[in-house]
Amino acid sequence: MVQFRLPRNSRMSVGKTWPRPEGVATLRTFRIYRWNPEDEANPRIDTYFVDLDDCGPMILDALIWIKDRIDPSLAFRRSCREGICGSCSMNIDGVNALACITGIDEVKGDVRIYPLPHMPVIKDLVPDLSHFFAQHAFRPWLETYTNPPEKEWKQSPQDRRLLDGLYECILCACCSTACPSYWWNGDRYLGPAALLHAYRWIVDSRDEATGERLDDLEDPFKLYRCHTIMNCAKVCPKGLNPAKAIMDIRGLMLERVV
Ligand code: SF4
Ligand code: SF4
Ligand code: FES
Repeated sequence: MVQFRLPRNSRMSVGKTWPRPEGVATLRTFRIYRWNPEDEANPRIDTYFVDLDDCGPMILDALIWIKDRIDPSLAFRRSCREGICGSCSMNIDGVNALACITGIDEVKGDVRIYPLPHMPVIKDLVPDLSHFFAQHAFRPWLETYTNPPEKEWKQSPQDRRLLDGLYECILCACCSTACPSYWWNGDRYLGPAALLHAYRWIVDSRDEATGERLDDLEDPFKLYRCHTIMNCAKVCPKGLNPAKAIMDIRGLMLERVV
């Protein structure tokens, strides 16, 4: 029988409201998803009050402030703090984004933070991305069959420009976890991030395995579950367009059958 409600142990409960500091004029309320596999309780939303005068301007600054000043048990990923490593991706005010480059002032009202949607949760804001990364296992290196040149594989400036908009991906998973097709078929559909990466190697003029790479994607699910809903391009924090890369791969598939 189809189940329309979340399983009982996944339903969200009201969590703890942490003490509100006295005499602070610039308080901001944060409502944050909490779940710890060790305590066997349902997920909950905890409420924290952040003193904006004592905290940096970004959502990640507030999370670090909460962890330092209020609740050291809050778990989240971060590393570079400048939008480069892709670690701090999470759902902020209903949109997948990087916490380190999203300003607190970009959110109106209470700041609601959840882990990336439709992924298993390890703890609090930390999703399990093992499957997402495993889907990138499509020989992400140049494959060549002709004899190597004496010095280097050369590329014209025009061919190099074909990689723009592809090589910048930081594997944050904001796009794939915003994609409804990936939510429904993530076990078999590769999703926008993996397909953007696949196209980065397909389109590289120095690579000589284009046919094999296209063969690897020739499958009703791996490539063809994209319905051009465009959520991926809308949320990408690096301004990339995975949907276009997917369309370009499909174009190459068509070219080789006609
Ligand atoms: S355009 Fe395709 S890959 Fe992007 S969100 Fe929509 S269905 Fe997913
Ligand atoms: S395409 Fe954009 S949203 Fe998707 S993983 Fe790469 S950087 Fe993140
Ligand atoms: S901490 Fe590296 S992208 Fe946010």
